[in-house]
Amino acid sequence: MENKDLQKIVADAEASLATVSSKPSWEQAKATFLGPNGCLTQFAKGIASVAKEDRPTFGKSLNLAKGQVESLFQNRLSELEELENLKSLGDRIDPTLPSIPSFYGGIHPLTKTRRKIVAIFRKIGFTVAEASEVETEWFCFDALNTPDDHPARDEQDTLFLPHESKWANVPRKKDEAYLLRTHTSSVQIRTMLREKPPLRVIAPGRCFRRDTVDATHSANFHQTEGLFIDHKVTVRDLKGVLDYFLTELFGGEVETRLRPSFFPFTEPSFEVDLKIPDLGKLSNKWIEIMGCGMVDPKVLGLVDIDPKEWTGFAFGLGIERVTMLLHGIDDIRHFYQNDQRFLSQFSSQS
Ligand code: PHE
Repeated sequence: MENKDLQKIVADAEASLATVSSKPSWEQAKATFLGPNGCLTQFAKGIASVAKEDRPTFGKSLNLAKGQVESLFQNRLSELEELENLKSLGDRIDPTLPSIPSFYGGIHPLTKTRRKIVAIFRKIGFTVAEASEVETEWFCFDALNTPDDHPARDEQDTLFLPHESKWANVPRKKDEAYLLRTHTSSVQIRTMLREKPPLRVIAPGRCFRRDTVDATHSANFHQTEGLFIDHKVTVRDLKGVLDYFLTELFGGEVETRLRPSFFPFTEPSFEVDLKIPDLGKLSNKWIEIMGCGMVDPKVLGLVDIDPKEWTGFAFGLGIERVTMLLHGIDDIRHFYQNDQRFLSQFSSQS
């Protein structure tokens, strides 16, 4: 009996709120239902005539209905306030205008290139190796068969750290200098000391040189190293792997060639050139893209790998350089200036 009456009160409240269109009329309606003389209060007084054992049920139903009516009033109040706010904006608002686009962060173009390179090499069984950006002279130069008087060791080219500095995770020999690695080739050595051949690793990372910054140089840049050690590896394997890589990266129409070069840690050494039919101003021209070569047996010997049993190749390329070629970017400094107009051009590409 009571339940039916209560349901009617809730329904009445809903109906009367539908006709309420201002705050004063909302107040009035509220008093009719929830005020001291409101119908819910009146209804509550009826408890006097309810049998003692039925009172708890009566109370429960009453509270439930009261809660429902209260939340109906609260919701309507929020709606009214919102309408009032809109009204106060008057003609200044045009609700048909498209909303201001939200800003989505994007992945940096260098990160995208790095991920692309890693994905290509993963398909042929390479894993990613990482190492510290702080290195010792031995890992960066000596173990890579770089003579004492090599210009790369010059303070003009390499950023040396103060001798007093300590890097707990990079042990050094007494009197050896710490430096910021000038290339990722040091990861070749760290990998060969840590793991036994056969090896297939790709080592992307940050490098540092004392370069004066201009459109094509930055004191801080990124490289990807690659190292492949197995039985009977030859220059043919090197060329095959790099052709696969460059074709995947730049598209099917790529031509490549190896040009003799010199690196202290590879013998023979090569520069890789590539020619692409549609690359803007560089279309159909030979472009130098990376260095590579067969790992020098002296280097293998230094890390206790028997050069009679194992042979291999290594390669290194600049991530900035590849990204600039892929997207026709003419100035390396764009990568580091955090200009949204530049970066947002890459945010939608995968
Ligand atoms: N480390 C060389 C450089 O920075 C590139 C390289 C890597 C060459 C591996 C041969 C093999 O120029």
